[in-house]
Amino acid sequence: MRVVVGVSGGIAAYKAAELVRALQRQTVEVHVVMTESAQKFVQPLTFAALTGHKVITSLWDEGDPGAAVPEQNGIDHIAEAQWADALVVAPATANILAKFAHGIADDFLSTLYLAIAAPVVVAPAMNVNMWNHPATQANIETLRQRGVTIIEPGTGELACGMVGAGRMAEPDTIGAAVIAVLGRRRDLAGEVVLVTAGGTREAVDPVRFIGNRSSGKMGYALAEAARSRGARVILISGPSSLQAPAHCEILRVTTADEMRSSVLASMNEATLVIKAAAVADYRPIAVSAQKLKRTGPLTLELAPTEDILAEVVRRRRPGQLIVGFAAETENRLENGRAKLLAKGVDAIVVNDVAGEGVGIDSDTNAATFLTRATAVELPQMPKRQLADRIFDEILALRRPQSVVVELDDERDVEARKKQAIQNRVLEESVPVGAGRRHQLIVE
Ligand code: CTP
Repeated sequence: MRVVVGVSGGIAAYKAAELVRALQRQTVEVHVVMTESAQKFVQPLTFAALTGHKVITSLWDEGDPGAAVPEQNGIDHIAEAQWADALVVAPATANILAKFAHGIADDFLSTLYLAIAAPVVVAPAMNVNMWNHPATQANIETLRQRGVTIIEPGTGELACGMVGAGRMAEPDTIGAAVIAVLGRRRDLAGEVVLVTAGGTREAVDPVRFIGNRSSGKMGYALAEAARSRGARVILISGPSSLQAPAHCEILRVTTADEMRSSVLASMNEATLVIKAAAVADYRPIAVSAQKLKRTGPLTLELAPTEDILAEVVRRRRPGQLIVGFAAETENRLENGRAKLLAKGVDAIVVNDVAGEGVGIDSDTNAATFLTRATAVELPQMPKRQLADRIFDEILALRRPQSVVVELDDERDVEARKKQAIQNRVLEESVPVGAGRRHQLIVE
């Protein structure tokens, strides 16, 4: 694995040497890029000695100070971008974060950021007021939404003498985050992920519809995460103002019925179906051809729509994983579990859509990932980050697990033994305790 460590100008620059060491302990090959101001804090020689590679300090070759026109550096930023499996910037100053967020490319590190397709991790370090400034926070949010991993700074006494948030995270913590990001890098390669996103609209008349507040943010974040982890992605989206994620096949639909047709037509290609869409449960029985006039009280007669998720489960191919979402405003876990069982899905992501800063139309979300056997709490975080956590849990479902079969009497044991041989028995243990209970552990 190959990582570029970017060092920008802060007092924590010296800690980047420890980060380089932490990565090398994990057998990561490291190149170091330093900004001009970083070199005021630490000599490039420190990193050159640690890595055994020339430290990149400029877009331009400074080897010949006598040259009238500086030559281009031998290491160009595109080649470096292709070489790296990840870029980690530690410390990341307010200035470099602003450049990344706004696409300013005026030195090697900011140019590398634009050119790199691999995951990016940043560990901010700065004065507490600079960290809390709305400009910095907005830049952090932009980067987060783009999938950059932010290692939040710690709180404590800062180099400037003030106390508060702004201390760079410990090098070991940053190193562990980089390793985690690298582990995920291509772990969905070979998968075809079908994601549904957004709400649907059911026409009442030519200008009105019944809809919901779903923005599509969670589904789009899932599509983006799957794509960046190497999957082919089919995104079926209800009306949404969001920009389509790059390199995903996007199919746009409006009604629940259109979403159903689109999902059923594409589902055979998919190895994994994730239904994040907020599908209308009812549609008007009759759609008025003309705009309805205000003539007093109005009663709309509604008919239920098809449950697409249940239909997908009925038509599933062997090996296909199916994950649903449950939008709940009360009794979250009970309702979620009931939906999991009723719909027959492999897992359900339960959202509290009534909470502050979570669920529909919000930028952040919290959820519980429920399977028949487990419940994993995913605390409030940006939807893009949550998308990665959801894929981590989904992939865990693909890993083989042992099953312990408890048997009651001797006859069963004999029958099970025969079957177990075909099913790859890992271990067999005979009578458990004093009774006539037996256990088979089957892969
Ligand atoms: N869903 C679906 N087709 C529908 C309604 C819902 O495929 N007509 C899917 C959603 O995409 C989601 C899951 O079913 O993955 C649960 O959606 P939710 O609205 O929480 O539940 P409902 O099944 O509609 O049940 P209820 O509204 O009664 O809570």
